[in-house]
Parts: sequence; structure tokens; C-alpha cells
Amino acid sequence: MADGVADILSDKRALARRRAYETPLETLNPAWASAFRDDAHWPYFERLRAEDPVHWTPDSNYGAFWSITKYHDIMAVDTNHQVFSSALGIGLPPKASVLPPDAFLEREIDAGGSEDSNSFINMDPPGHDIQRKTVSPVVAPANLQTMAPVIRERAGAILDSLPIGEPFDWVDLVSKELTTMTLATLFDFPFEERRKLTMWSDTMTTAPGHGPWNTYAERRQLLADCRAYFIDLWNQRVNAPPAGDLISMLAHGPATRGSSMDQYFSNVTLLIIGGNDTTRNTISGSIFALNRNPDQYAKLRANPELIPSMVSETIRWQTPLAHMARTALQDFEFRGKQIKKGDRVVMWYVSGNRDDEVIDNPYAYLIDRPHPRQHLSFGFGIHRCVGNRLAELQLTIIWEEILKRFPDIRLLEEPRRSYSIFIKGYEQMQVIIPSRN
Ligand code: HEM
Repeated sequence: MADGVADILSDKRALARRRAYETPLETLNPAWASAFRDDAHWPYFERLRAEDPVHWTPDSNYGAFWSITKYHDIMAVDTNHQVFSSALGIGLPPKASVLPPDAFLEREIDAGGSEDSNSFINMDPPGHDIQRKTVSPVVAPANLQTMAPVIRERAGAILDSLPIGEPFDWVDLVSKELTTMTLATLFDFPFEERRKLTMWSDTMTTAPGHGPWNTYAERRQLLADCRAYFIDLWNQRVNAPPAGDLISMLAHGPATRGSSMDQYFSNVTLLIIGGNDTTRNTISGSIFALNRNPDQYAKLRANPELIPSMVSETIRWQTPLAHMARTALQDFEFRGKQIKKGDRVVMWYVSGNRDDEVIDNPYAYLIDRPHPRQHLSFGFGIHRCVGNRLAELQLTIIWEEILKRFPDIRLLEEPRRSYSIFIKGYEQMQVIIPSRN
């Protein structure tokens, strides 16, 4: 790693630690995209778990919100959809006053819209349950079995195309490529144009200058292109016999065939982000974590049967979605605090996954933990990730294929992390593969 970058990061982390402990608790705010980018967010959550696990931040770039930071409290909120609703948004959108004048909040998965324009992650029952059922078969065990050989063949082809002995960006050549190929298959999206999915996904989740757009006008144009493309696909599929891909399922499913195009596009957005960024960042996270923990990497090489538990440990350790948010539908007393009707409540999965009352030695990356699937990264309750088995399948297959081919994948420098309080991932990760097996 370049020493300069390491020094700067270490200074930033020390500063974040001081801020996290010197700020009066009443105004403490853990939602800093810059802290997540610098991997410097941990002390804020460490302090909140210890001193104020249900915490009110009165003001921030994202307005006022409650932070829930302990494992069991997060589960309690996530499984109580009667009080904590998803219908008004599942993220923390920036408040209008911190956005530039040309920005406007499009109707997106974290913004919350109306029942006939929301995706199902932004809905409560009964609408949520009916729509979720429509897309579930595509990620059910029977279909995953059909997909597995296709994913394996592609993973192998991607790995065989990598340069040996030359530095390259793992995020671009492997993580993005594999997850985009899988998403293109789920949508039956024209395969040669699949990188459009990557670009649109990045457009939806990045801040200006951190992805494929710089101005909000560019962003609007890219999203309009995406919408037009998917409406075209809907029109093709609705006029063809029902098939097993997600677009056809949405176009023909009894609960979704009458959807407005706003609602259809919201569901497409949800599936693009759900299927892309999360798994991508876990694949990159596994390379990072194994390099930072060479004893674990050696253990994995010696025991490839540890791949499934390594995959779950990486999903916990990485926590690819740092939080989900809800809105209280009524006044509610929770752990001695008065949550008021209309308050935004943030479940910080990233913090719950480091709660040492539930997970032993939670900061350590241990690929042979006794209960590796005990983590919050997929959420709980009615919105628990519908694609969780597909994510695990892709990660398992890529690692089975990696171990067959390469004795080592070496991280060359500190990766560039995502500038986001929501997507916890990597923009770039330079690696080298010294040789083949
Ligand atoms: C490691 C990878 C993944 C992680 C960490 C992840 C995480 C999550 C989380 C935290 C939620 C919300 C849970 C809650 O509110 O309780 C969620 C929901 C969802 N995820 Fe994933 N996800 C991953 C992979 C995928 C994949 C591959 C797909 C593609 C099919 C997908 C599709 C969805 C959908 C459609 C929802 C909404 C479910 C609902 O509202 O009922 N996810 N995911």
C-alpha cells in the first residue's frame, strides 16, 4: 500500500474517533458519507452501542432521525412493521437544503412515493406481500439450481480472462462483471448491452462525481434512458407468452400486470440495486478481508469446504447495506425512549453486526465461526432480502472457481471505498494475480 494514503487514512480515522467521543451525546450524528468512505465510521457506533443504543440525532445532512445500533433492537424494529413502516422510504435522503439547486429528489427506492408508484421494498402489507410473491419464484431454490451451472460457466470465463502478473481493478473486471451477468440473466436483458445495467445501477446509488454522473441534469438523463429501455422491454414481454424472467413475471403476474409504469420502474430499480451493488461489494469485500487476514486466507486454501462459511462471514463483516430506515406510524416507547409518530428510525445493520453481546469478537474476520449466518446483513421480517440465497450462490461459485485457478490474489493498495452512508462497498480495488495453479 502507498504509505501516503495509509498515513492520511490513519489520521482521518484518529480524527473521527476523537470527534465520535468528544461530541456531546445529544448532538452526536453517525451519518457521515466521508467517514464511511474512510472506514472511519466505527467509533460513532461503538459509542452509541455502549452509551445510547436508541439515539436521537436532532439535525444532520439527512435531517433528524433515531439510530438503532444493537443487534436485538434492530431485529425488534425490523420485525415490527405494524409500527415501523417502509411506505415512506427505506433510506435517509439528504435534506433539500444540502443539495445543489439543480437537484431534485426523483422517486427512488429511498425517497418513498405513493402506493401505486412505489417498489415493494417501499410498501407495507398487503401490497408488499402480494408483489414480493410475484418475483420470488425467480430466486427460489428450483430456479437457483437451474442458474448455478450458468453462473459457474461465466465465473470461470471471467477468471480465465484476467491478466496474470499485471495489476488490474478487481471491482471492474470481476465483481461488476459477474453480478451484472447474473442480473442480465434474471431480467433476460440483451446480454451484449449488460454494462448498461452496471452504469444505471451506479447512477442510482452514487453521489455526484463518484460514479458515471457529475451534474443532476446528467443523472436525470441517464435514469430517463434506463426507464425508456425497460419500458421497451415491458412492451416486448407483455405481448409475448409468459416466461421465467423478472420482466415477464412483472408484466404477466396478476398483482403487477396492471402496474403504472412508475411502479414498474420502481420495482426494476429495486431489483437492479438489490441484485448488483450488494453482491458486487461482497465479492470485493472477500478479496479485501482475506488479504488483510492472511491466516484466514491460508485456512481457506487448505480447506475449500470452508467457502460457504467464509461467504457468510464476509457478508456479516462487510455489511453491504449499512442501514435500512423506517417511519414510526404511532408514538411508541422503545427501550425507555419516546419515538414519536412520523419520526425516521434507522436500523444500522453495520453496527448490529459488531455487537459483542451477540457476536463473539465481532471485529475479527473468522471464516470458521460456529454460526456464520447469524448476522443482520439481509435484514429480518417481511422485507428480509429475497435474493439472499442467490447472493450466497454467486459468492460460493466464484470462490470455488478462484481456488481451482489461482494460488493467490494479492491486494496492492488501500481500495477506494464508496462515498455513501447506505452502500458500503468499493469503487476500485487494485490487485495482482502472480500466477495460475
Ligand atoms: C450480499 C448481498 C445482499 C445483501 C447484503 C442484501 C441486503 C438486503 C437488505 C438489508 C434488504 C432489506 C431487508 C429489510 O428491510 O429487513 C434487502 C431486500 C431486498 N433484496 Fe437484497 N441483498 C443482497 C442481495 C440481493 C440480490 C442478489 C437480490 C436480487 C434478486 C436482492 C433483492 C432484494 C429485494 C428485491 C429486496 C426487497 C425485499 C422486500 O422488500 O420484501 N438482494 N436486501
